[in-house]
Amino acid sequence: MPLLKKRKPLVGLDIGSSSVKAVELSRSKKGYQLTGFACEGLGTDVVVDGAIMDAPAMAASIRETLAAGKFKPKGVATGVSGHSVIVKRVVVPAATPDEVEASLQLDAEQYIPFEISDVHLDYQLVGPSMTAGDEPGMEVVLVAAKRDKIQNHTNVIGMAGRSPEVVDIDAFALQNAFEANYLVDEDATVALLNIGASLMNINITKGGMPLFIRDVSVGGNQYTDILQKELQLSFQEAEDLKLGKNGGSEAEMVQPLLESITDMICTEVQKTFDFFHETYPGEIINHVFISGGTSHMHGLASKIQQTFGYPTDILNPFRSIEMGPKVNAAEVTSLGPALAIAVGLALRGVDQ
Ligand SMILES: Nc1ncnc2c1ncn2[C@@H]1O[C@H](COP(=O)(O)OP(=O)(O)OP(=O)(O)O)[C@@H](O)[C@H]1O
Ligand SMILES: [Mg+2]
Repeated sequence: MPLLKKRKPLVGLDIGSSSVKAVELSRSKKGYQLTGFACEGLGTDVVVDGAIMDAPAMAASIRETLAAGKFKPKGVATGVSGHSVIVKRVVVPAATPDEVEASLQLDAEQYIPFEISDVHLDYQLVGPSMTAGDEPGMEVVLVAAKRDKIQNHTNVIGMAGRSPEVVDIDAFALQNAFEANYLVDEDATVALLNIGASLMNINITKGGMPLFIRDVSVGGNQYTDILQKELQLSFQEAEDLKLGKNGGSEAEMVQPLLESITDMICTEVQKTFDFFHETYPGEIINHVFISGGTSHMHGLASKIQQTFGYPTDILNPFRSIEMGPKVNAAEVTSLGPALAIAVGLALRGVDQ
């Protein structure tokens, strides 16, 4: 359910706050093949609080990323997330798809806490259901994304000389990446957590449809920040220490600090799971998959599993995707789950 869509080969372009990631897929006999990928880091002041603050720097990084990946398609599929995006399942008082359209045109503001003129609205039908007032209705997944957020993304892509053909929602891309790689049990409820540098995208899905989507402002930067503050380091020194690049000499001081952030992330996940269970009493989460760069964080997946008791795995967005002849498989493996959203976006550019 992308917000804007045309059909042609596309590069999936994930504009994160710590890096720009791009993936190109093609169809192969067995399914999909990874044709190319690239990832370029961003300075810490390019994206601040989820907003692109330095558009020329972002455009330059996008250009570099796309040059590094030697992609053929000119068109890109990108995604938006964060507090400018809301995805909700609602039951509208309507009996037919046409009535859904009419009802949402009239009443969308009752479901969305934004000024309707400021957002791009879209929806996908789930099926007939009863409204809260016990009238026959239609259940839909309603999507609202702030127009200025979409425009900021399409602008920098345009500045980089590319054409933004698809604007998707990151949480949907995450689900597509999951479904392209794992056998999905129609009855299983799966929580997908993509933990990046500044944001955690959460999509709890069942039967190929999102049940519950939410983005929370937590991520790997918090590990870096606590090391930076407590040990009086620069951001880069703290980041290197977090990634274990300068030996383990401070391990005794570092471990408890890192663990305090892992606990804080678990608390945020707990809040979301609690809210999910309140919204869907009786639903049981069967499996958790984590992705994003921060899923590499030592001890995070096991702590999530231990805290909630659900089987928890790191999502491999290339589990069922063949490596193309030109890609460096070792590099793909090391980035792995950080490319999940870029893979999901790239899937918009191949026939699904
Ligand atoms: N091996 C690793 N161990 C721990 N953390 C890692 C590792 N590799 C990457 N990270 C962290 O992952 C984060 C980057 O993840 P990702 O690329 O998913 O974020 P992003 O898309 O740029 O940001 P966001 O989506 O939050 O705006 C950074 O905080 C980085 O330090
Ligand atoms: Mg990201």
